[in-house]
Amino acid sequence: NVKNSILHFLHIDDYDKKTIMHILERAIEVKSLLKSGDRSFQPFKGKSMAMIFTKPSMRTRVSFETGFYLLGGHAIYLGPDDIQMGKREETRDISRVLSGYNDLIMGRVFAHQDILDLARFSSVPVINGLTDYNHPCQIMADALTIIEHGGKLEGVKVVYVGDGNNIVHSWLRLAAVVPIHFVCACPQGFEPDQSTVEAAKKAGVSTIEIVHDPKEAVVGANFVYSDVWASMGQKDEAELRMQKFQGFQVDEDLMALAGPQAYFMHCLPAERGVEVTDGVVEAPHSIVFPQAENRLNLKHLQPAENTLKHPGLRTLVCK
Ligand code: CP
Ligand code: NVA
Repeated sequence: NVKNSILHFLHIDDYDKKTIMHILERAIEVKSLLKSGDRSFQPFKGKSMAMIFTKPSMRTRVSFETGFYLLGGHAIYLGPDDIQMGKREETRDISRVLSGYNDLIMGRVFAHQDILDLARFSSVPVINGLTDYNHPCQIMADALTIIEHGGKLEGVKVVYVGDGNNIVHSWLRLAAVVPIHFVCACPQGFEPDQSTVEAAKKAGVSTIEIVHDPKEAVVGANFVYSDVWASMGQKDEAELRMQKFQGFQVDEDLMALAGPQAYFMHCLPAERGVEVTDGVVEAPHSIVFPQAENRLNLKHLQPAENTLKHPGLRTLVCK
């Protein structure tokens, strides 16, 4: 009883450029409405969303819960002890039961296969709230922040410095549909997934570089981006990674090499003094807090059916 025809949000490049830009434009409109205090836009009135968290979260949990409430809906938090995905119950059973109760499912999970399985067996749309592989909602919020601070998304140079992780995979998948110049400067052995890099390059939309010299990479960047060196699930590697990532801290000298136009971004949580200095996070050109706030503003996904890359998919999300 697999439901393949539902529109999920699992990877940015499941959608075409027109849809992505449309979502971002709607985010700007809805943000302005909510900021004005207007609460008349209630697309989720009478709807509920189950949120499965097998990992910790502040931004994702609070922005989804608050955003869904502000737009009229009710969100239910299910933590690691509530569900025990794959231990107390199989993912395919969880998916079918929750989709019988709710209009949406959001999942933050370890294995990417878990979000794919949730989607495969769900009769309602599933939203990816981060996996070991990617974090599409984060990079959509980052794209919104870039538009607000740089005036446009197309053509900007984003230089990510650090581990070739889930954040990088979502940047690459955005770069597969929207033309940007994306550079990942990472230590040898910490490159992003090769097939994701190849697919993004093959799409022929953006300039994509995977390099190992952050000093060279950041020159002329519009946005310098950092993330933790040890992601959730890798914390036991933190010490080893600390050694391997020497030279990859975003500090004042690196930002000076980037140039005065460069903004600093970080998905947060940040380990100040590790991947980024306290001074860079607190500098006037740091936009990490507007970036975090924008996690709230992508809660009304409204893709139009005729702009989907996969025409078989059916729009159910947030009509
Ligand atoms: N950036 C982000 O996803 O933060 P949380 O882990 O706190 O949700
Ligand atoms: N790469 C980080 C992102 C946190 C939002 C992690 O997965 O822990």
